[in-house]
Amino acid sequence: MKRSVTIWGLVLVLLDQSLAQTTCDVDFAPISAADYIAAINPGWNLGNTLDAVPNEGSWNNPPVVAATFKDVKAAGFKSVRIPVTYADHFTGSSPDWTIDPTWLQRVSDVVDMALDNDLYVVTNVHHDSWEWADVSISGANLTMIEEKFYRLWVQIGETLGCKSSLVAFEPINEPPANTAADGTELNKINELFLQALEESGGFNTDRVVTLMGGGMDSIKTSQWFKAPTGFSNPWAIQYHYYSPYDFIFQAWGKTVWGSDADKAALEGDFANIRGNFTDIPLVIGEFEVNTLLEPAARRKYMDFAVRTAKKYDTSLILWDNGDGALDRTAHTWRDPILMDIMFNAVNGVSNSLSDSTTDASATEQSSSAYLFHKVGEDVTDQTATFLLNGNTVKSIETSNGKALSSSKDYSVSGGTVTFKKAFLSTYLSPTAAPGSKANLTVTFSAGADASVEIVQWDVPTLGATTSKAVSGSDLLIPITWKGLYKLAAVKMLREDGVYLFDDWTQWLGPLQQARGTYSGQWDRDGAHVIIKDAAVSQVISGKVPTTFTFEFYPRVEGNAVNYTLTV
Ligand SMILES: *[C@@H]1O[C@H](CO)[C@@H](O)[C@H](O)[C@H]1NC(C)=O
Ligand SMILES: *[C@@H]1O[C@H](CO)[C@@H](O)[C@H](O)[C@H]1NC(C)=O
Ligand SMILES: *[C@@H]1O[C@H](CO)[C@@H](O)[C@H](O)[C@H]1NC(C)=O
Ligand SMILES: *[C@@H]1O[C@H](CO)[C@@H](O)[C@H](O)[C@H]1NC(C)=O
Repeated sequence: MKRSVTIWGLVLVLLDQSLAQTTCDVDFAPISAADYIAAINPGWNLGNTLDAVPNEGSWNNPPVVAATFKDVKAAGFKSVRIPVTYADHFTGSSPDWTIDPTWLQRVSDVVDMALDNDLYVVTNVHHDSWEWADVSISGANLTMIEEKFYRLWVQIGETLGCKSSLVAFEPINEPPANTAADGTELNKINELFLQALEESGGFNTDRVVTLMGGGMDSIKTSQWFKAPTGFSNPWAIQYHYYSPYDFIFQAWGKTVWGSDADKAALEGDFANIRGNFTDIPLVIGEFEVNTLLEPAARRKYMDFAVRTAKKYDTSLILWDNGDGALDRTAHTWRDPILMDIMFNAVNGVSNSLSDSTTDASATEQSSSAYLFHKVGEDVTDQTATFLLNGNTVKSIETSNGKALSSSKDYSVSGGTVTFKKAFLSTYLSPTAAPGSKANLTVTFSAGADASVEIVQWDVPTLGATTSKAVSGSDLLIPITWKGLYKLAAVKMLREDGVYLFDDWTQWLGPLQQARGTYSGQWDRDGAHVIIKDAAVSQVISGKVPTTFTFEFYPRVEGNAVNYTLTV
C-alpha cells in the first residue's frame, strides 16, 4: 500500500522499488489490542533460542522442537514470545538488506509450531538492538539503522503476513536510549515499523502490535513514548521488568525479598507506567523469577508481582532462557509450585506462601521452605510458618505420597505448623550425613502447594584456603558441600577493610555489605566455588590481599568459609 508521506524521504525511495504485496487466501479474525493482551496472559518466552547470536543453537539451547510448545500449552500458558535475532542472517547490504530466505522460513515454521498448539505468538527483532540498531551510540548512522530496520520488517511482514490474528509483532527488543533525543528516534522506529508492515501487505495492518519505548524500561517509556499517528494497527505497549535488580540477578547479597518497602517499590513502578498510559493495553514482555533464588523469597515475589500486574491491568510473559522455568529436555518445570503460584495469581486465586525473613536490616535469613538441622545438634520440634492469605492447611505428605499424621507427626496452629521431634528423627540426628533428607508438600484449602525441604547441614569445606592471585582466568576452588548445593552470597573484603567492589553497599543491610555479584564476580559448579577473573583482576590491581567469604544456606552466623587471595 502506498501512502503519501512527507517525513519519510528514505521510505518514499524504498516504496518506489517495493515488491508486490503479500496476498493471503485464508481468513483473518480481527482482534482489538485490549482483547489480545488480555488473552495472552500469562505467556512464556522462548529465550536464548532463535535470538541466540550468531544462530539458533549457538547458546545454551538446541534448536527448538514442537514438543516444547506442547509442554508450554499443557502447563496453562496462553502465549509464547518468540524473540528472533536477524543480525547474522542478512545476505545483502544497503539498500535492500536481503535476509536469508532459509532463516525467514525457519522463523515462519517455528511460529507455526506454536500456532499448532493454539498459542498466541508475539515475535520480534531481538538482539539486533545492540548488534547494529543501537541509536544511542555516539556517531550512530541513523540513516543505515532506519533503512535496514525498515527493510527487515518489510521482509518479516511478507513472510508472516498471512499468519492468523493470534500472531502479533513487536518492533525491536530493549533498544538502548539514554536521552530524550534517543527516545524521539525510537518513536520514529516504531513508525517505520508500522510503515514497513503497510508495505508488506498480508494482514499486517490489522495485526496487533506491541510498541516500545527506550530500553523497554517503564520509566523511559513513560517519559519519551509518543503514540504513532496515521496507522490502523491495534496497538499496545510492551515493557520489561527485572526489578529489584539485585534480588533478581543475585547481586550484592540480596537473598531477602518481601518487605513493605520492596512491595511498594514494585507497585510504584507498575502504577507509574499505568498512570501514564491509562487507556493503552500494557504487557510486561519479560520478567523473570529464577529458580536459583531462595525459594520462599522467589515465590513471594512471583505472587506479589503477578497480583500487582493484574491490579494494573497488565499482562505478563515469563522470561525463560532454557536454564530457568522449563527443563526443555526433561519436559518438566524446575519449580512447579512457582508456576502454580503464577497461574493462581493470574486467575485471582489466593495462594498460601512459605514465610521468610523480609527485613533488609536482618543479620540472618530464615525460610519456611526449609527445616534446617545442623550436624552435632539434638533433634527438636521445629516450626514452619505460612502466610495463609485466607486459606487453611489441609494436609502434608512426603514426596512418595505418604500422608503425615496431623496428631503424631505435626500440629497446626493458624499458619504455624510444628513438626514433631519423633517425625523429624526419621530423617535427622546429631550424626546423620549432611544433605537433603526429604521434601514435604503442604496443601491448603485453595491455591498452590508449599514445599518444605528437610536438610541436615554443616559448614562446607574448601580444598584450599589461600593462593596468589593470577589473572587471566576464573579461579575454581574445590568444595565439599554439606547440605544444600547452593551458594547464597560472597563477601569480598580487602585486608585494609576496603570493599573489593561497590563501597556504596555499606549503606545496605548486614547481609549485603561488601557482597559481590553472581556470574560477573562469583559462581559455583558441582564441585567448586568460583572467583571470576574480574574479581581476581580487581585484587591484583588493588595490590591488597583480599578475603572472599563464601556464604551458604541457611544464612546464619558461621555458615561461611573464607578464601584469601594474596598479591
Ligand atoms: C550511513 O548509511 C547509509 C545507508 O546505508 C550509507 O549510504 C552511508 O554511507 C552511511 N554513512 C556513513 C558515514 O557510513
Ligand atoms: C508518568 O511517568 C513519569 C516518569 O516516570 C512520572 O514522573 C509521572 O509521575 C507519571 N505519571 C503518572 C500519572 O503516573
Ligand atoms: C528435594 O528437592 C530438591 C529440589 O528442590 C532436590 O534437590 C533434593 O534432592 C530433594 N531431596 C530429596 C531427599 O529427594
Ligand atoms: C573470614 O574472614 C573475615 C574477615 O574478612 C573474618 O571476620 C571472619 O571471622 C573469617 N571467618 C572465618 C570462618 O574464618
